[in-house]
Amino acid sequence: MNNASAENPNAFDDTSIAAIYHAIHSRRDIREFVPGALPLGLLDRLYAAAHAAPSVGYMQPWRLIHVSDPALREGMAQLVEEERLRTAAELPTRTAEFLKLKVEGIKTCAEILVVALMDGCENHLFGKRTLPEMALASAACAIQNLWLAARAEGIGMGWVSFFEPAALARLFAMPPGAKPIAILCLGQVAQFATQPTLETLGWGQRLPIESVVFENQWPADAQPTPTAY
Ligand SMILES: Cc1cc2nc3c(=O)[nH]c(=O)nc-3n(C[C@H](O)[C@H](O)[C@H](O)COP(=O)(O)O)c2cc1C
Repeated sequence: MNNASAENPNAFDDTSIAAIYHAIHSRRDIREFVPGALPLGLLDRLYAAAHAAPSVGYMQPWRLIHVSDPALREGMAQLVEEERLRTAAELPTRTAEFLKLKVEGIKTCAEILVVALMDGCENHLFGKRTLPEMALASAACAIQNLWLAARAEGIGMGWVSFFEPAALARLFAMPPGAKPIAILCLGQVAQFATQPTLETLGWGQRLPIESVVFENQWPADAQPTPTAY
């Protein structure tokens, strides 16, 4: 019998295990939203999911700002557009194609959150003395929790990282040292595509699992790094 919940009393029941994998594999980055508010109480459940994330030294470096002011939403859209154009200007290839790509749904999503690293992250040494980026890794865990919870509740989320962090920090009156890392767009979707948009449009493919999972040593014949855009 290979039924995890029957063998291991600590395992979830089989339906719950399947639900976890279903959320993981059917989560998508969403940039196209349809009109409609989020269900009542959902934002609070998503905040709680994010805040339950693991963090290095239990530092909980994430700070979430809910954006309800339309002027701020407009300001964010402008900053993202500026960065989208700067990125296009620096891309080595496929500039015209990139410019046609939708990289955010800021104006049409139901709700927006900005996620920032708290100020003073550098004061926490526990678990990150040699790896200061573990604060960022911890905040990314919070975002992923939120993303998966939203997916399970049928709500789409897009992670937008096209912005100049200093400019976004100014827009939200962040203290020195705090750093925005994500604009999260949340809303109703017509459907969740089965594959990533960037895969459908030929910007990348899921790498074969053998090319990313190694045994004991990094293989001498490991696949070369894929094309960078
Ligand atoms: C750290 C991070 C930043 C991202 N920033 C953007 C972004 O600015 N705009 C965008 O359209 N997608 C963004 N994405 C989404 C990725 O393009 C997407 O995750 C990837 O193409 C795989 O698709 P999937 O999330 O649907 O599986 C970001 C994802 C991550 C994890």
